[in-house]
Amino acid sequence: MMRNQIKILKGNIAFTPVFGQLEILANSFIVIEGRTVKGAFTGELPAKYHGITVTDYGEALIIPGFVDLHAHAPQFVNRGLGLDDELLPWLEKYTFPEEAKFSDPAYAEQVYQQFVTELWKWGTTRSVLFGTIHKEATTRLMELLAAAGLGGYVGKVNMDRNAPASLRETTEQSLADTEEFIQQTQGRYELVKPIITPRFAPSCTPGLMTGLAALARKYNTPVQSHLAENTDEVALVKALHPECRNYAGVYDSFGLFGQQPTIMAHCVYNDASEIGLMAQNNVYVAHCPYSNNNLASGIAPVRNLINRQVPVGLASDIAGGHEIFIARVAAMAVQVSKLKWLETAKREPFFTIPEAFYLATKGGGSFFGKVGSFEPGYEFDALIIDDSPPGRPGIRQYSVEERLNRFIYLGDDASIAARYVAGKKIEQPKFSADNG
Ligand code: GUN
Ligand code: FE
Repeated sequence: MMRNQIKILKGNIAFTPVFGQLEILANSFIVIEGRTVKGAFTGELPAKYHGITVTDYGEALIIPGFVDLHAHAPQFVNRGLGLDDELLPWLEKYTFPEEAKFSDPAYAEQVYQQFVTELWKWGTTRSVLFGTIHKEATTRLMELLAAAGLGGYVGKVNMDRNAPASLRETTEQSLADTEEFIQQTQGRYELVKPIITPRFAPSCTPGLMTGLAALARKYNTPVQSHLAENTDEVALVKALHPECRNYAGVYDSFGLFGQQPTIMAHCVYNDASEIGLMAQNNVYVAHCPYSNNNLASGIAPVRNLINRQVPVGLASDIAGGHEIFIARVAAMAVQVSKLKWLETAKREPFFTIPEAFYLATKGGGSFFGKVGSFEPGYEFDALIIDDSPPGRPGIRQYSVEERLNRFIYLGDDASIAARYVAGKKIEQPKFSADNG
């Protein structure tokens, strides 16, 4: 044991080692060595840790950092716009014109600095992001994320069909830029890595999808895309790929469905055979309840996915979703699950808060390895929640669990007193002046 690499924090520890099981260790210690948790202890610390300084957070909660499994960083400035449309017209009218602006590195710099700062502010310690087709801007997004000390996967988006001219690549250029992007960024950062990012089947030709799968294999990178978000989109994919049995089958036929670790966003309209393939191939679903509501996409059958052993995490889907705060996304996941419960004649139980909290932390975190929990061996990503009313006594007392529930439904960034990623306390990003 390297005593100089040990940190000990004290507070009210809350996490979900198992789906739906909230573990609370009141007034307890958590011991971290380097990046990882050694253990959590109530009462006395083991003798070997005596004499090491304890950072005492008093009554504050210590919870795992939040994980956002799917967000579009370039769409951050479009939050709240165009939400009177459904997916396909929204993409055409609002999203593509905004993303085209990222050919300008100076524009991208401003948006990405703000976006990364917001991730920090709202306690999203790990995220899986779409950039745009532009490799320069997307490389910069990775650099900013790494400079902030946050963890993540970042993808240069690929689109070589059904896109406006300003965002349409040739197949060859798309593949060449993607390979260069991977070569420039892979292994460069401890916590930030590239991910192969075909936007969705309608915007990628078979040749592009085949080439991207080959790159994913060659460089051993994960893959992310969108799947079965909206009924018009599903119909479009059926028309484009009559040879495939279903939408998931399109990705699978090109080697983009779990052949490498894979995340598919939305998954509102998948049939039983697609869900079976997701489970078999360990394809993660990024559940995006805010986005699915805003674009009137539908209510994802998440309970059913989980029952069928599909791995699930939560996601903001900025800017289909306008809410970046994953705690609030967890509350929305509970709310829409209640509508689903009613819609299924009360057959599919709605999510409890501990279930949604698990999805917001360990559920998505597992895509990163041992992330999202405080079990021994987990990377220590944590938020310190100080929800004491500033300057005034509270009106009533709350238990630790009640405080966690209230933080999820009502809390905000003002309650997040500190953030840790992989054992390190991270401060508000200060991007240097020469970087814009
Ligand atoms: N499908 C393809 N592109 C997008 C996007 O940018 N946002 C959402 N919500 N769905 C998509
Ligand atoms: Fe999306």
